[in-house]
Amino acid sequence: MLKQYKEAIEKSNIISKTDVNGIITFVNDEFCNISGYTKDELIGQNHNIVRHPDVDDEKFKYLWETIKHKNIFKDTVKNLAKNGTTFYVNTTIIPILDKNENIVEFVAIRYDVTKEVALREELLKKEREYEELNKSLEKRVQEQTKELQELNQTLEKRVRDEIAKNEDKQRVMFWQSRHASLGQMLANIAHQWRQPLTELSLAMFNIKKALQNEQADNVTKFYDESKNIIKNMSETIDDFTNFFSPDKEKYYFNISESIRESIGLLESVINDEMIIIKTEFNDIKVLGITNELTQVIINLINNSKDAFIHNSILLREINITTKKERDFAVIEVHDNAGGISKENIEKIFEPYFTTKHKSRGTGLGLFMSKMICEQGLNGTLDVKSKKNTTTFSIKIPLDKHEK
Ligand SMILES: Nc1ncnc2c1ncn2[C@@H]1O[C@H](COP(=O)(O)OP(=O)(O)OP(=O)(O)O)[C@@H](O)[C@H]1O
Ligand SMILES: [Mg+2]
Repeated sequence: MLKQYKEAIEKSNIISKTDVNGIITFVNDEFCNISGYTKDELIGQNHNIVRHPDVDDEKFKYLWETIKHKNIFKDTVKNLAKNGTTFYVNTTIIPILDKNENIVEFVAIRYDVTKEVALREELLKKEREYEELNKSLEKRVQEQTKELQELNQTLEKRVRDEIAKNEDKQRVMFWQSRHASLGQMLANIAHQWRQPLTELSLAMFNIKKALQNEQADNVTKFYDESKNIIKNMSETIDDFTNFFSPDKEKYYFNISESIRESIGLLESVINDEMIIIKTEFNDIKVLGITNELTQVIINLINNSKDAFIHNSILLREINITTKKERDFAVIEVHDNAGGISKENIEKIFEPYFTTKHKSRGTGLGLFMSKMICEQGLNGTLDVKSKKNTTTFSIKIPLDKHEK
């Protein structure tokens, strides 16, 4: 039975025996198969005939220390076959003792794990590759992120620069239009004053005459008259000053009053140019700056006036209406001043678009008016032109309690 056991082990494992000095005394067929040596080539040789040059001395020393101390050595060992190929064997070396407990020989039982080791190495290699790949990927992601961040920053800067440029441009345009309307207002004041100035000089002349004729009563009468005229002139100035005072606080105001103000400020021009203004007002309050809406209406009336003159219209009419339409206050300024051509109507809200001579128009009126409607009043300014008429409509959203 012992023989059978021996055979069973020999058939299934790689077996070798050495003497106490490591000289091979026995090898089985399996050992010959895996190492590539014949039995004759092996017997009598030192066991390190199959030692692989990669295995360091430390490991070898440890092996000998273990078995010389009568302990069993167990490990996976890298070996070299005769033809130079490498094989791995899971090795158990057992010291065999005699009855005096002295080592007689060593039996080594091994089995081939070359495939498993190769697989494990392949796996490790793959793992390392993945790690590398992961690292390079991470690096690339970092680089890309950095690039994107930089791009973002330059983009942000460019956007900021553009906004600043735009703001500068808008500031310039704002001042240009302010300048233009100031000029228009001065012209209006001059207009408004022409008549009272004539009246005033007449009153002065009368005072002089009354003094010469020693008519004290008449002096007083003409003096009072003059005072009244001067008071009216002063009021005109006040109106314009009020209009130009920089009011930046938003509050609820009645749009009809704001429009009446515009008509009032343009009164003398309207009369001189024989323009009939028809109004149909509903009292509606909106949130914003009343002077700004006044400015918009002045721009619209001035444009109508210019068109009346340019197109030599005889019967000049402007209709201004205010009404509520759903959630909006709607102001319509309608004139029969000749209309706007299809070609021009698309451009009239662009800054600097004008059909007038440069001494008469900057082309900023409607651009500024639209800005005011959109930004100041949170609304819209649109235009429609049919036949010989033009209608501008301003839509301003109503507050909850005004709806
Ligand atoms: N009611 C209108 N009827 C006919 N054409 C108009 C009317 N309103 C505006 N336009 C046309 O639109 C153009 C642009 O108007 P906008 O008020 O922006 O500039 P402008 O009146 O030419 O100059 P500014 O108002 O800056 O002095 C005008 O030049 C004119 O051709
Ligand atoms: Mg204009």
